Amino acid sequence: MIIAVDGPAASGKGTLASGLARHYGLPHLDTGLLYRAVGRAVSDWEDQPGFEDAAIAAARALDASHLADVTELTSARSGVLASKVAVIGPVRAALFDYQRNFATQPGGAVLDGRDIGTNICPDADVKLFIQADSKARMERRARQLESRGLEVDRYALYHQIEERDARDMANPNGGFYKADDAHLLDTTLLDIEAALRAAIAIVETTMAHKAKL
Ligand code: CDP
Repeated sequence: MIIAVDGPAASGKGTLASGLARHYGLPHLDTGLLYRAVGRAVSDWEDQPGFEDAAIAAARALDASHLADVTELTSARSGVLASKVAVIGPVRAALFDYQRNFATQPGGAVLDGRDIGTNICPDADVKLFIQADSKARMERRARQLESRGLEVDRYALYHQIEERDARDMANPNGGFYKADDAHLLDTTLLDIEAALRAAIAIVETTMAHKAKL
């Protein structure tokens, strides 16, 4: 079974995807980490003429060893860099096979990101599109960063998330929109357990429905 989980920044899709993976005993890939690793690798080139070429080369050279430092990769700064490399078509193309191979391994997988249900796994068995309002998303991300001992400027974080959403939605190469056959799950008022229960219910209903066809 392949489960695709998409949604905007800090919507809770990563937590839900890893909860679903645990529940169904499937491997999980947070595809945002790939873009974050590419962004990190070219941080010195940011806003300079060589940025695109450097990002394409970094994406082509990416392997699992670049994904190890999760603390650095999940910083707000890495998120901004990720969204800047994510608009480059050849970067997305270079990361396609890694994601597709992960998704199609025997037994299936759970992947979360922006274009899993639309581009990486249009054939996924279950597609979820996770949504939450911007303030709730900012507050979650702030608490996540604070739990790591980091100081958070909520005003700046809110604007950073909005700016990243805008860049992602305008991405001409990104495919960041809800797939027609994706199930919308709004987690604004749900805690982690309630959101996971709702996501499992969607998976169960969808798979039961498919089994009848
Ligand atoms: O966790 P959060 O939603 O804040 O970000 P992420 O999933 O780690 O993704 C970081 C950035 O990578 C996003 O803002 C997108 O620009 C990009 N991304 C993408 O374009 N396609 C994906 N499948 C995953 C991430």
